[in-house]
Amino acid sequence: MEITGPEQIAERLQGLRLPRHVAVVMDGNGRWAKSRGEPRHAGHRAGVRSVRELVDAAGRLELEALTLFAFSSENWRRPGAEVRVLMELFRTTLDQELQRLHENDVRLHFIGDRRRFDRSLQRRLTHAEEVTSANRGLQLVIATSYGGRWEIVEAARRLAEEAARGERDPATIDEASLHGALSTTHLPDPDLFIRTGGERRVSNFLLWQLAYTELHFTETLWPDFRAEHLAQAIEDFAGRERRYGGVQPEPLESVRDA
Ligand code: FPP
Repeated sequence: MEITGPEQIAERLQGLRLPRHVAVVMDGNGRWAKSRGEPRHAGHRAGVRSVRELVDAAGRLELEALTLFAFSSENWRRPGAEVRVLMELFRTTLDQELQRLHENDVRLHFIGDRRRFDRSLQRRLTHAEEVTSANRGLQLVIATSYGGRWEIVEAARRLAEEAARGERDPATIDEASLHGALSTTHLPDPDLFIRTGGERRVSNFLLWQLAYTELHFTETLWPDFRAEHLAQAIEDFAGRERRYGGVQPEPLESVRDA
C-alpha cells in the first residue's frame, strides 16, 4: 500500500478529479479507546489528531470545503461526563488551533443549534467565525449540536414566518428557497461523504445536501484516520460515474456515427 501523509497527498492524487466539498462522519472513537483498555474520552482526544491531519490534507489539496460531524443533536443523550469532556475538547481545540487555522487562510463556520451550548463556548464559536470571516482558503464547517432534520425544520419555519409576515407568497417556496434557508447555503453540496468506524448510515447528517453525494464507508476507526485514508476515499470517488438522475453522456464517436 502506498503511504501518503498530508505533505504527499497532492502529488499522489495528481490528475484525478477531486471533490469540491467533502463531508465526514467521524465515528469509532469509543471503540478505539475500548480496544486499548482506555476510557472513551481517550478516543475523542486521539480523534483531534485525525481532525488536524485531515484539515491539513484538505488545505494542501485546495478543497473548497470540509464539513465534520463533531456532535449530533442526539449526542446530548450521552452520559453527562462524556458530554462535558467533548465540550471541553471543542473549547481547548478551538483555543489551540484558531491562530494556525487563520494563518492557513481557513474560514470557520459552525452549524447546529448553538443555543444549547454554554455562553462562553457560544462566544468562542462566534469569535472564531468573525476572526476567519475574510479568509479565502478551505471553508471548514464544524457541525455541532447538529441534525439534518433539525436544520430542515428550521429552514421551513423561517420560510413559514416570512409567509406569515406577508413577505413571501407560499407559492414561491421551492427547492431554491429552501436551500437558501439552510445553514450551508453558501457552500456547494458535498461531492463525497466519508464515514469511518464501519457503520453504513448517514445518521441524520446533511440530509438535504447529500441527495447526490457519493458515499464512502471505511472500517478504519476515527482516531486511526490519516491522510492515507482520505487519499483512498478520493481515489474511490474519482472512479465513480455521477449522473444526477440523468444518463451517461455518450462518447463523441458514437454520437457522430449515429
Ligand atoms: C463518534 O465516535 C465521535 C464523536 C461523537 C465525537 C467526535 C469528536 C472529535 C473527533 C473530537 C474533536 C472534534 C473537533 C472538531 C475539535 P463514538 O464515540 O460514537 O465512537 P463509537 O461508535 O466507537 O462508540
